[in-house]
Amino acid sequence: MNATMKAAVLTEPGHFKLRDVPRPKPGRDDVLVKISRVGICGTDMHIFNGHYAAENLPMIPGHEFTGTIAELGEGVKGLSFGQPVVVDMNIGCGTCYWCRRNEVLNCPDMQQMGITMDGAFAEYISVPARLVIPAPDTVSADILALTEPLACVVRCARKAEITFGQSVVVLGAGPIGNLHVQLLRTIGAAPIIVADLSPERAEMAREVGADVVVTDPAKLRQVVLEHTGGRGADVVIESVGISALYRNAFDLIRKGGHVAAFGITGAGETLPLDILRTILEENSIKGSVAGMGQDMHDALTLLTHGRIDTRLFTKASYPLEEIQSAFDTLADRPGDLKTQIVIH
Ligand SMILES: NC(=O)c1ccc[n+]([C@@H]2O[C@H](COP(=O)([O-])OP(=O)(O)OC[C@H]3O[C@@H](n4cnc5c(N)ncnc54)[C@H](O)[C@@H]3O)[C@@H](O)[C@H]2O)c1
Ligand SMILES: [Zn+2]
Ligand SMILES: [Zn+2]
Repeated sequence: MNATMKAAVLTEPGHFKLRDVPRPKPGRDDVLVKISRVGICGTDMHIFNGHYAAENLPMIPGHEFTGTIAELGEGVKGLSFGQPVVVDMNIGCGTCYWCRRNEVLNCPDMQQMGITMDGAFAEYISVPARLVIPAPDTVSADILALTEPLACVVRCARKAEITFGQSVVVLGAGPIGNLHVQLLRTIGAAPIIVADLSPERAEMAREVGADVVVTDPAKLRQVVLEHTGGRGADVVIESVGISALYRNAFDLIRKGGHVAAFGITGAGETLPLDILRTILEENSIKGSVAGMGQDMHDALTLLTHGRIDTRLFTKASYPLEEIQSAFDTLADRPGDLKTQIVIH
């Protein structure tokens, strides 16, 4: 193998440069992953546009990836050369209070591949072996690369304690909202009501299991009441990231319902909370961020066993050499729920 590799370096907001960079050398407890596919997500777009992690540039973004093991550090056990893998992108210290509770994002030493350090828009990445999850070779790389976004959705369902028979409203039918709908369907939530301003996105949500879709925000509350016996929904998942929608969410839940805080707002945005109503109705809001540990395993299991319809997510792909145009044109392709970069 060469001592260098091709990588897409985001040198400044809006500009990738394809460069030959040193190929990482795995440490004792690391493995080198030969990357096959990497998804582009909203966070990558925020980094690309200079709205997030700008202080870390120049860097190689990319965190929704899969590949095969190309080299093993001498201390690594239980993994083998050539094995297909997915990787938990969140690197905690592994020993602090939060890491031990699978709340790695609260770890004081937390790092994230492709966000706080170099990521996967490259031929290879070296990662701690403990974050590597072997994947079956029967599942194709375009599907395996969906493990990380699905893991975020799995974590949200877990944190909001969503179970079968619960009525759930999903605000936002983007790629992530679509995955929420699909997971809710497998859990057995009912009815599943989805709101998006885009008829195209709403229709895609219907295709994968939404019982009711609403594209007119003025009608949403009425529709939710109609389908929940006049009570409101057990759970509302905000999957857009607009603080006004968080406020609306509280008018869509039933007494004793939950708001799942998932869509990412600007830093410091606040929510006026009716304290007395929260107490008397026993309402709650539950945050969830990223997908890690068990969330990644569960997401991989769901993908492996065909519980997620991935067809809407695997239509658009670009070679690494065309990453700039993949990012430049992403906003113009609302019909592509996911765009992936193909590397090997
Ligand atoms: N908490 C986490 O772990 C986590 C993980 C991944 C993504 N996210 C966040 O989840 C959100 C959804 O991700 P995505 O990739 O699907 O985002 P996206 O921006 O691609 O999709 C958002 C969707 O919301 C729709 N929308 C916009 N305004 C609306 C409104 N007023 N009412 C209803 N729908 C509206 C848009 O038409 C679009 O289809 C983002 O905020 C993202 O940052 C959170
Ligand atoms: Zn992502
Ligand atoms: Zn830690």
